[in-house]
Amino acid sequence: MFIRHETIEKNAFLLLILTLLVISIGGIVEVIPLFTIETTVEHVTGVRPYTPLESGGRDIYVREGCYVCHSQMIRALRDEVERYGHYSIAAESMYDHPFQWGSKRIGPDLARVGGKYSNDWHYAHLINAQSMVPESLMPHYAFLAGTPLDTDDLLNRLTAQRRVGVPYTDDQIANAMADLRTQADPAADNAALLKRYPKAVQVGHGNTVTELDALVAYLQVLGTMVDFADPANENLHQ
Ligand code: HEC
Repeated sequence: MFIRHETIEKNAFLLLILTLLVISIGGIVEVIPLFTIETTVEHVTGVRPYTPLESGGRDIYVREGCYVCHSQMIRALRDEVERYGHYSIAAESMYDHPFQWGSKRIGPDLARVGGKYSNDWHYAHLINAQSMVPESLMPHYAFLAGTPLDTDDLLNRLTAQRRVGVPYTDDQIANAMADLRTQADPAADNAALLKRYPKAVQVGHGNTVTELDALVAYLQVLGTMVDFADPANENLHQ
């Protein structure tokens, strides 16, 4: 055994050939199973594209670099599941371009922050985090409340998302501006909005649509789309 090994080690060419052989077996073992499964993203009910307002809020989230301090990826570890809720599944970020999993947690994970607090809490917290959590080191984003949301390129943004695979329907694109206004006005009738985008949370104060309104709408939907109690999603249970 050892003598044969010595032969291999002393012959660089033979060693190279055998090394390549071993590596390719390892590669094949890893790659072949991926061809036999239909998709690496599990089938779940409830995941939908972001509303126009949420999508605008997501752009603000990316622009302001919230991902520098916040992840959106609950790992399948007991302490994380107990603190944040069901671990994140691939389907929940399949319409995110780019995804916001992040890699830093100076603040808490935000993957399931939707519905955890009221809209008012989010407004107050984003304007001045220390007013809600005195020991917080999160920066103030009060200027977002004074900045109207830029909607000039809204249709282009949604169309671009559609090109990369987010299934916005023609109906959703055609009604984008109306849906945005409805979601940013809590007094507006939201029946059509909810039909197109279930679980959309109305925010704002009914006048100018600000960047802060969009950001709060985005935060309020995070992690709420998949109903883990739905029997259709039974295969996801821990
Ligand atoms: C410098 C790091 C930092 C940045 C940048 C930052 N945050 Fe935070 N964030 C924190 C910390 C720390 C906390 C925990 C204390 C608190 O609640 O304020 C927090 C808490 C939060 C919470 C409450 C989470 C919970 O479950 O209690 C939300 C929501 C939030 N941040 C949203 C945002 C958004 C949106 C942005 C970008 C506009 C942002 N943060 C930028 C550090 C940051």
